[in-house]
Amino acid sequence: MKEQLQKIEDGLASLALGDQPENLYDPIRYLLSLGGKRLRPMLVLLGHGLKKEDNQSVISPALAVEVFHNFTLMHDDIMDEAPIRRGQPTVHEKWDQTVAILSGDTMMVKAYDQLLEGPRESLLDAIKKFNKCAIEVCEGQQLDMNFEAFDTVTEAQYLEMIRLKTAVLLGFSLEYGGLLAGMESNQLAQLNAIGEKAGIGFQLMDDLLDVYGDKAKFGKLVGGDIVSNKKTYLLIKALELANDTQRKEMNKWLSATDFDINEKVAAIKNIYGELGIFELTQKKMNNFYDEAFALLDTMDAREEGKKALIDFFEKLMKRER
Ligand code: IPE
Ligand code: IPE
Ligand code: MG
Ligand code: MG
Ligand code: MG
Repeated sequence: MKEQLQKIEDGLASLALGDQPENLYDPIRYLLSLGGKRLRPMLVLLGHGLKKEDNQSVISPALAVEVFHNFTLMHDDIMDEAPIRRGQPTVHEKWDQTVAILSGDTMMVKAYDQLLEGPRESLLDAIKKFNKCAIEVCEGQQLDMNFEAFDTVTEAQYLEMIRLKTAVLLGFSLEYGGLLAGMESNQLAQLNAIGEKAGIGFQLMDDLLDVYGDKAKFGKLVGGDIVSNKKTYLLIKALELANDTQRKEMNKWLSATDFDINEKVAAIKNIYGELGIFELTQKKMNNFYDEAFALLDTMDAREEGKKALIDFFEKLMKRER
C-alpha cells in the first residue's frame, strides 16, 4: 500500500504543468504538494487490483481522479469560504479568488489529459462515465450550497446531496480501475455501487470530523460546517430529535447574523452532545460501509484484491483527517 501511494505521489509531483503566468500554475503545484490522502487514485488501483496484479500502466490515468478532486477542493474552498486546507492557507486566501477560479479550471482540463493516458479501447467509456460523475459532483455542490439557506432538509435529501457531491467520485474511481482492468459491465456496476456506499460513509465521517476532529490532524477549520449552517447529518438529526428548548436555541444560532464563532460552535456542539449525535452519525456511517462490504463480498474477484480493499475501507473508517 505504501509503495502504491508513493507511485501516486511521484506521478503527481512530475505532472507536466506550465510555468507562466506563475499565479496560474503555482497554486496547482501548491495544493497538490500539500499531501492529501490520495484515496481516489488508490481506489482506481484497488479496483484494478480486483482483477489484475500488475498496475504499472494504471498509475498515470489514476492521477486523473486526484487532479479532478483537487480542482473541486480549490473551488469548494471558495464556496465554503474556508481558510485552511491540509493544514495550510487555502488558494483563494494565499492568492485570491480569481486565481483560485482559473487555476481550478486549468486543473479540470489537466484531469482530462490524465484520462487520455488510459488505453484507447476504453477511452470513450471512461470519458462518458467521468463526465456523468463530474456533472453530478456539480449538482451535489449546488444542493449543498442551496441547503445552507433552507430551514429544513430531510435525511433523504441530505443523503442524495452527499451521494452527488462526494460519493459518485469514489464510485467512479473504483469503477475506473475495473474498466482499466477490462472488467465486464455488470462487475463495473457493482464496483460503482461499492464505491458509492463507501463514499456516503466517507462524507458522514467528514461531517463528523468537521465538529469533533483534532485541529492539528484534521487540516481544516474545525467547526466550519456549524459556522456556515451546513445541513450536515449531525445538524439534521439534532433538529429532528431536539426538545423545544434545544430547538429554540439551535434556531437562534442558525438565524444569527452577528455572532462569536466559538460561542456558536460550542453551543451547537453542546446540544449534539446532549442528543448523542456523535454516536448516531457513527452508526449511520458504519451502516453504509457495511453495505459496501456486503456488496464486495458477493463479487467474483481476486481474493488478495478484495482483502486490500477491505483493509483500505477499514482504515478510512478510523481516519482522523
Ligand atoms: C475532502 O476530501 C472533500 C470531501 C469529499 C469530504 P478528502 O478528505 O479526500 O481530502 P484530501 O484529498 O485527503 O485532502
Ligand atoms: C466537499 O464537501 C465535496 C467536494 C469538494 C466536491 P465539503 O465541503 O464537506 O469538503 P471539505 O470538508 O471542505 O473538504
Ligand atoms: Mg463544500
Ligand atoms: Mg468545504
Ligand atoms: Mg466537510
